Amino acid sequence: MKKSLLILTLLSLASANAQKSNAMNTKEAINKKVEVLLNKMTLEEKVGQMNQYNGFWEVTGPAPKGGDAEKKYEHLRKGWVGSMLTVRGTGQVRAVQKIAVEQTRLGIPLIIGFDVIHGYKTLSPIPLAEAASWDLEAIKKSTQVAADEASASGINWTFGPNVDVSREARWGRVMEGAGEDPYLGSKIAIARVQGFQGDTEDDLAKVNTIAACAKHFAGYGFAESGKEYNTVDISNATLYNTVLPPFKAANDAGVRTFMNSFNILNGIPATGNSFLQRDILKGKWKFDGFVITDWASVREMINHGFAKDGKEATKKAVEAGADMDMESHLYVAELVNLVNEGKVDIKFIDDAVRRILRVKYELGLFDNPYKYCDAAREKQVVGSAYNHEAVLDMAKKSIVLLKNDNNLLPLKKSGQKIALIGPLANDKNSPLGSWRIAAEDNSAVSVLEGMQRYKDNALTFEKGADLTIGKTTFVDEVVFNTTDKSGFEAAKNTAKNADVVVMVLGEHGFQSGEARSRTTLDLPGVQQELLEEIYKVNSNIVLVLNNGRPLALPWAAEHIPAIVEAWQLGTETGNAVAQVLYGDYNPSGKLPMSFPRNVGQCPIYYNHFNTGRPTNSENNVFWSHYTDVDKTPQWPFGFGLSYTKFEYKNLKLNQSEYKKGEKVTVTLEIANVGDYDGKEVVQLYIQDIVASLARPVKELKGFELVALKKGESKTVTFNLSEKELGFYDNNGNYLVEPGQFKVFVGTNSDDVKAATFELK
Ligand code: NOJ
Repeated sequence: MKKSLLILTLLSLASANAQKSNAMNTKEAINKKVEVLLNKMTLEEKVGQMNQYNGFWEVTGPAPKGGDAEKKYEHLRKGWVGSMLTVRGTGQVRAVQKIAVEQTRLGIPLIIGFDVIHGYKTLSPIPLAEAASWDLEAIKKSTQVAADEASASGINWTFGPNVDVSREARWGRVMEGAGEDPYLGSKIAIARVQGFQGDTEDDLAKVNTIAACAKHFAGYGFAESGKEYNTVDISNATLYNTVLPPFKAANDAGVRTFMNSFNILNGIPATGNSFLQRDILKGKWKFDGFVITDWASVREMINHGFAKDGKEATKKAVEAGADMDMESHLYVAELVNLVNEGKVDIKFIDDAVRRILRVKYELGLFDNPYKYCDAAREKQVVGSAYNHEAVLDMAKKSIVLLKNDNNLLPLKKSGQKIALIGPLANDKNSPLGSWRIAAEDNSAVSVLEGMQRYKDNALTFEKGADLTIGKTTFVDEVVFNTTDKSGFEAAKNTAKNADVVVMVLGEHGFQSGEARSRTTLDLPGVQQELLEEIYKVNSNIVLVLNNGRPLALPWAAEHIPAIVEAWQLGTETGNAVAQVLYGDYNPSGKLPMSFPRNVGQCPIYYNHFNTGRPTNSENNVFWSHYTDVDKTPQWPFGFGLSYTKFEYKNLKLNQSEYKKGEKVTVTLEIANVGDYDGKEVVQLYIQDIVASLARPVKELKGFELVALKKGESKTVTFNLSEKELGFYDNNGNYLVEPGQFKVFVGTNSDDVKAATFELK
């Protein structure tokens, strides 16, 4: 090694060590401060730290009189509230913080939580859409923007990322997660935790980072038949290999909080589940932050039939490791008595309070409780031009091209007559999705507005029909228009005269998200009919889909020549869609969930196990299939096209046999043989062919986003180690077993090249 290089290496090692020991010192110092404070606290004050209330009154106005708000206000003044959620804006947060800090005996600051799910006010695409980018840097940046805006508005803790793996398109909350795959989900979990909290432990104290929360621990994405809040009944294999890995990844990345979930696991509600919260999370994984319950989930244990009353529910939740009660109002009501009666050991309370105080110290709230309440910064950061640029960039990267027959796309920039049709084409609200509490209504750029920026084409617009009837809100059921087709004729007339028809159809933004389960995956309302009517007069259709989950659109898949999956892309929706349609951005997104052919296939996912009868080898009916529809998905996991074409060749392994511990090096060449510069997500899957427990037919174990200019080619290299080659047994032990493995590399989970090797 050259001398200068050696010095550099030593210096960087020294600085890494210094950073580590700084972090250790900070940790120790914080732990000491926590102990000092804990010793001063009464039992009531300790329990108060474990109590979280939802925002309750116009805090900067007069004190509330009567009802729930008055009770919460009184509790706040007594020091019986440790955290609040949904209070936002520097003015409001400063006002509640002032009560906690200046009017209570110990002046312990509140930690202020908020659902920053895909942005705060300037919204990025829904998380499922972001996952479709497979672009970890972009996802991290989009999360940083969210953290910046939220922290500038008084918030210091988000209830995200949602790391629930789900294979169930009927479940509305798939829009909040990263899709069906635990490997992709883990990588995205890390990117999001770092985006919110920063890269090092010390970063959490910065003013533009906030504490993250991995949720919902655990199994929530497996709600039976996709029905919200439903029973979860999964095997240990699924728990250890599919559900837990993204949570473990978030924990390893230093996530400071976890939220438990509404569901049962093996008959025990997650909130009262000490196997999950104490044995795995705080035990095996050594998590030293705190666990917040989901909304009223302590109380809901009564409905589950797991506790006879609020008192028993409280005891079970606290003993099982649920540290802070979100809106059950039970800890604050029951816990002091439970301890005084000797029914709950004070050690559980002390443990919870230590964890909560630790995170408050780490955020720097004790040094300056008003650090997130700088009105000037709020004005400067929230909605800044930089943030709009960032969410636009993320939105373009999230779009997936599903079909493009005869290169109908990209549209020509001039000389084309384009008819824009569809109830969502001029919608400025729906693209914001359902988690957009701080965004202004109707603040998205619509597709119409985005396309109008391309002025050299003749663009006409007809809605064709309304999607919904009446007002759509976060708390009400969406009502669809199923009868009014009075706009069809005008839309058909416009379509007739156009060279290309762009149709924007799909789900309403409030149709996915929490409590938005469906039993159909089609285009709601009269949209399918509108699509087919327009097709009769002009089949040159580009279908732009807006949706928060996989849809099943067999007719469109067969007839419509070009289909663009544009999800709900947030504030900059219309600009992103227009830039992709006009070819100013070449789409590179890939589906993070399989799209079924019909809803009856659900749950459908690529990393399934083999059956005993996977193929029709006997040429009769007795094999694993459906009699009425192909068993494959419409579009598989990892699928997505580009305006250019990529060719894969020369898949090679550096050896055919490996000793334990040796790295498996996989290389292949990829060439851009089409007419555009473009990006491709090269995907690597493995199969452990024979193992002590059945293994999936394929598992994603690596991917790389490769940018290739037209005519360019590159060699892509993947290294597989024991971290990728093993699996968890039914007791949660990680095993790497010798034997034959397959490696697959390709453009999606279905279209791959394969090689085999032997692990000795
Ligand atoms: C319930 C949801 O399940 C959870 O994800 C969310 O963070 C809380 N409500 C707070 O809004």
